Amino acid sequence: MALAIRFHEQQVQPDSESLRQESLVGFAATPKSISPKFFYDRRGSELFEQICQQPEYYPTRTEEMILRLARQQIAELAGRDASLVELGSGASRKVRLLLEALHPSSYLGVDISRDFLLSSTHRLAADYPWLDVHATCTDFSQPMQLPSEAMGKHPLAFFPGSSIGNFTPDDALAFLRNLHATLPAGAGLLIGVDLVKDTAVLERAYNDQAGVTAAFNLNLLQRIRNELDSDIDPTRFQHRAFFNKAESRIEMHLVSPEAQTVWIEDQCFDFAAGETLHTENSYKYTPASFRDLAGQAGFSAVAMWMDPARLFSVHYLQRD
Ligand code: AVJ
Repeated sequence: MALAIRFHEQQVQPDSESLRQESLVGFAATPKSISPKFFYDRRGSELFEQICQQPEYYPTRTEEMILRLARQQIAELAGRDASLVELGSGASRKVRLLLEALHPSSYLGVDISRDFLLSSTHRLAADYPWLDVHATCTDFSQPMQLPSEAMGKHPLAFFPGSSIGNFTPDDALAFLRNLHATLPAGAGLLIGVDLVKDTAVLERAYNDQAGVTAAFNLNLLQRIRNELDSDIDPTRFQHRAFFNKAESRIEMHLVSPEAQTVWIEDQCFDFAAGETLHTENSYKYTPASFRDLAGQAGFSAVAMWMDPARLFSVHYLQRD
């Protein structure tokens, strides 16, 4: 198979360098924290794929079911000659559902993880020979420029998986405004958003019986150990995830059960017994609270779909 994708080179910081800078800052802060974007090294990406298959983790299969049922309506809204732009193009089967229903004229995968991006776009190009496939490696949480050849006449941005939940509402607004500046008027935005629901259901989804989410969380420390000069020991931390109702978010932390000191590069950091490193927020919205947020960024609601149990939502918005 010939190289059938067009890769658009962008200046991004090497992963390990931002990991070094951001962990030194995050471990020195009170409370200690680090960005969840660092979960996704090769092992972390594999563990995330496994999370998506756990019986307790409802978002992936629910969103897939919603997309399967709504794909014809989505295709009608997107129209002919759409250009599909996938933000955070994972290994996902979700985009394949859309490609088959939409038959877009081009596909652009945008992701921060270069290896993952290249392998997933190559696979798409091999499986859909009629499709003009592009890839660009960039951190889409920052202001970005997308290659105009891949934007076509009718771009439809696709941001599945409730990845928007990783942003605080302020950052989500900034992200949507950034997307507003990147997309032309009339462009579509198809976005998956996890919903507020019963606390027990939410907490089970982030504390699966098989311990995959725990392994995913702890792998962040293994990554620091692998890529930086550090003695941090994952076996001396524990996974903790709970729903913070006041903030409407799942919080994931790594708890240090005992007092300990860890080294990263030439700096040491003290953990008191019970102190945590905050590794992730996953915000949950209501249909109305998300529509309101999108409206503030200049996106109007066109359609929205949910499963019958109202676990998950998919919004179709239009850039004003
Ligand atoms: C990829 C951010 C949507 O918040 O549910 C899954 C990541 N973390 N289990 C989520 C995640 C722990 C996931 N997102």
